[in-house]
Amino acid sequence: MKTEILNVKDLNVNYKNIVKGAEYLRKGEVVAIPTETVYGLAADAFNENAIKKIFEVKGRPQDNPLLVHIYKLEQVYDICKDISKETKKIFDAFWPGSVTLIFNKKDCISDTVTAGMKTVGVRFPESKIARAIIKESRTLLVAPSANLSGKPSTTSAEHCYNDLNGKIPCILDGGPCSIGLESTIIDMSTSAPVLLRPGAISLDDIRNVIPNLIYKKDLLSVKGNEVPKAPGMKYRHYAPDAPVTLVEGDYTKTSQWIKENAKEDNAVICFQEFLNDFKSCQHIYSLGSFKTLNTAAQKIFDLLRKCDKLNVNHIYIQAPNDRGLGNSIINRLEKASAGDIIHI
Ligand code: TXA
Ligand code: MG
Repeated sequence: MKTEILNVKDLNVNYKNIVKGAEYLRKGEVVAIPTETVYGLAADAFNENAIKKIFEVKGRPQDNPLLVHIYKLEQVYDICKDISKETKKIFDAFWPGSVTLIFNKKDCISDTVTAGMKTVGVRFPESKIARAIIKESRTLLVAPSANLSGKPSTTSAEHCYNDLNGKIPCILDGGPCSIGLESTIIDMSTSAPVLLRPGAISLDDIRNVIPNLIYKKDLLSVKGNEVPKAPGMKYRHYAPDAPVTLVEGDYTKTSQWIKENAKEDNAVICFQEFLNDFKSCQHIYSLGSFKTLNTAAQKIFDLLRKCDKLNVNHIYIQAPNDRGLGNSIINRLEKASAGDIIHI
């Protein structure tokens, strides 16, 4: 199958390509679409065959449920039940935006979407391009991140092409994702809301609106035979080909540790302020300044993918501190490192 890349960066100029992508979706095809967080691998949420194609194309385990993407608020009531009145405050604060909310599902959402769970995750993206694609497809779209299962998420059309060329008919190119980390997921189906995945919207911003939010880091990593709350959490994730060592702690000390341990031909990913420490390294990448972690969020998956292209044999990463977006970035990198974490 030939994979077309269609430019949808400008809604006015490129609307005909949105229509073309939507036509593929209506025909039951799978299409990569841009959102403000990461690219999604989309299909018609009410077409069983189309949904199954997502699992095949990604190599996604069958027990990992999909998020449903809507383009107007009312649609959440079409597919979910038991939404309390107080939830309005949360909708007002975060929707449209990069927070995914989980509610009890109505029967119209199939078990294939939710992998048999009684709940469904709903995502109402901020991106006007994403919303135009959903609207034009005249259905709702299920969409996991558009990477092959286990790989770093895709934050550009080029990343999608590298993973999906020949497997899907079309990639809609909306340019690089503005945030670069997946949405923050909150389970609203329990008596107190539970944070299932830290993400694009920081914990502090969520807590301002949901003071009783339950967040236990332990809940997010699952060992042995335990059943995780968000099934996707049990897999090795976000992982480039080369092993990753994540170095956490005071910035000056972590930079020093990497300097002492990284070999010349290894890759080092560190904050801009420490680039000078690694003049002798062949593959050195900047996460931007540690003072604002937006750049780090936006670049991290791209940098992991760049290391893959260069075939480096080891990647050392200087961890951000645990506040704000740093918490979400660390969550991804701890999974990418498969537990190879140095605390200093
Ligand atoms: O930003 C995002 O959320 C992106 C864009 C494309 O919208 N999507 C995304 O989807 O990251 P995915 O499938 O890669 O990650 C969704 C996570 C998975 O870990 C999945 O197990 C979990 O959400 N999940 C989905 N439905 C769930 C449910 N009903 N209950 C608990 N966890 C759920
Ligand atoms: Mg994913």
